[in-house]
Amino acid sequence: MSQQFDVIVIGAGPGGYIAAIRAAQLGKKVACVDAWKNATGGPAPGGTCTNVGCIPSKALLQSSEHFEHASHAFADHGITVKGLSMDAAKMVARKDAVVKQNNDGILYLFKKNKVSFFHGRGSFVKVTDGGYEIKVAGATEETLHGQQIIVATGSSARALPGTPFDETQVLSNEGALALTAVPKKLGLIGSGVIGLEMGSVWRRLGAEVTILEGLPTFLGAVDQQIAKEAQKAFVKQGLKIELGVTVGAIKTSKKGVNVAWTNAKGEAQTLDVDKLIVSIGRVPNTTGLNAQAVGLALDERGCIVVDGDCRTNLPGVWAVGDVVRGPMLAHKAEEEGVAVAERMAGQHGHVNFNTVPWVIYTSPEIAWVGRTEQQLKADGVAYKAGTFPFLANGRARALGDTTGMVKMLADAATDEILGVHIVGPMASELIAECVMAMEFRASSEDIARICHAHPSLSESTKEAALAVDKRTLNF
Ligand code: FAD
Ligand code: NAI
Repeated sequence: MSQQFDVIVIGAGPGGYIAAIRAAQLGKKVACVDAWKNATGGPAPGGTCTNVGCIPSKALLQSSEHFEHASHAFADHGITVKGLSMDAAKMVARKDAVVKQNNDGILYLFKKNKVSFFHGRGSFVKVTDGGYEIKVAGATEETLHGQQIIVATGSSARALPGTPFDETQVLSNEGALALTAVPKKLGLIGSGVIGLEMGSVWRRLGAEVTILEGLPTFLGAVDQQIAKEAQKAFVKQGLKIELGVTVGAIKTSKKGVNVAWTNAKGEAQTLDVDKLIVSIGRVPNTTGLNAQAVGLALDERGCIVVDGDCRTNLPGVWAVGDVVRGPMLAHKAEEEGVAVAERMAGQHGHVNFNTVPWVIYTSPEIAWVGRTEQQLKADGVAYKAGTFPFLANGRARALGDTTGMVKMLADAATDEILGVHIVGPMASELIAECVMAMEFRASSEDIARICHAHPSLSESTKEAALAVDKRTLNF
């Protein structure tokens, strides 16, 4: 006899656990199934984001930034540190403790919201009269029945063909976040978001870091004025970034990892490193779901096919987050999870893909929302641009971090904000105001007329808005 639920969510990453909570808030009887195991084999809900993604990477970015500040920046403030040292194993242990707090927090939220949690791998068994039968393979085997199903199984790191991850020398994000000693030489394939964040962590802690990127353009999806500013800063910090590279054979031995590669001029090169992180994108997790048992449609990349509302080809089956099209971001997964739960309850859940912010948590941070200058040109949109450098911002000077700028793009005719692009201190926090402005379809003049606290970094956003109208006050 199977246990009956209104809704079964497969996956407890940010897409799944948030969908489960919202569905429970709306009166549904909800089960959430997740397979992630902690070091002792217990449940570790939170998915990639909590266990080997957003949270642990930000914990290590913070620890390594403290170390870098103590090593270099403190002296400018008149603070002398003698005998400074660093314990990578302790940093990683702290990171693990932060992860556990988040795992426990989600288990608490499930209890609070009366979501039944099942620890194990969920798979489709069959279509039934009023829904779907789901098997959970964990310490014991359970059979559940759900009227509606949300698949939120997330994604995993993509390996280079012929070079599987061994997580000892050739590392995915999982191994990269678990190193307990600083490698002398670290190589990364791919200078995307993970490449830059992980490269920054281990460079700050003393590794010699080389990043090999296939594309000829640095951060091609980012506004190029912002990307160039960021690239300058990263190179100055000591990250070695090679663009337009073709990666060849990768050999591992007791001595380390040897990477054969060709540079942009077509010249053969080799890179010898102690560890190699491969960060070339991610693939959706659909193997093991037994999608074929119920005829759930996947596309050629293995993503579950959904419409704009996250409906799959099967009635009552929805899919959200990294396992479907769109940016692989935790907050996008969460928004989709909430919207699906609300649609199931007859409400009008909505996700505005035009205002999903992106943040790269390097130093300087990079954050943006909306279209880039290159996209506006390609779309044939007439626009006005305003930029304001942090160099001219009093708070940034006081902080001792004046790298970068805020750049605002607005429609030439209506002045509606079409995109905001930031490289610099606390860009991750500054972007929230810009997302809100775009969600309310604000004009650049709206931001320019709003009183911003002084001295604050947010004054740079106001000044960038003034710059759209060529009337900055402090630059
Ligand atoms: P996931 O978080 O991948 O969760 C899916 C869950 O489903 C997992 O627990 C998995 O074990 C489980 N599962 C899979 N199949 C089954 C099954 N058959 N049965 C039961 N359970 C199953 N995004 C940001 O927005 N900000 C960041 O700062 C950020 N940093 C990142 C850093 C790194 C190193 C990485 C790798 C990713 C980062 N991301 C970040 C991306 C973010 O982690 C993902 O977009 C997000 O986790 C996707 O959420 P999800 O719920 O779709 O899937
Ligand atoms: P990515 O898509 O950001 O970057 C991958 C990079 O690898 C690209 O620049 C690509 O051109 C390059 N590449 C691909 N194949 C290559 C090859 N064979 N040789 C050399 N270069 C190659 O993917 P990444 O960094 O793996 O991250 C995956 C996703 O996780 C991100 O797209 C993002 O959605 C999410 N993420 C988000 C973070 C955040 O929001 N701060 C942090 C980390 C990850």
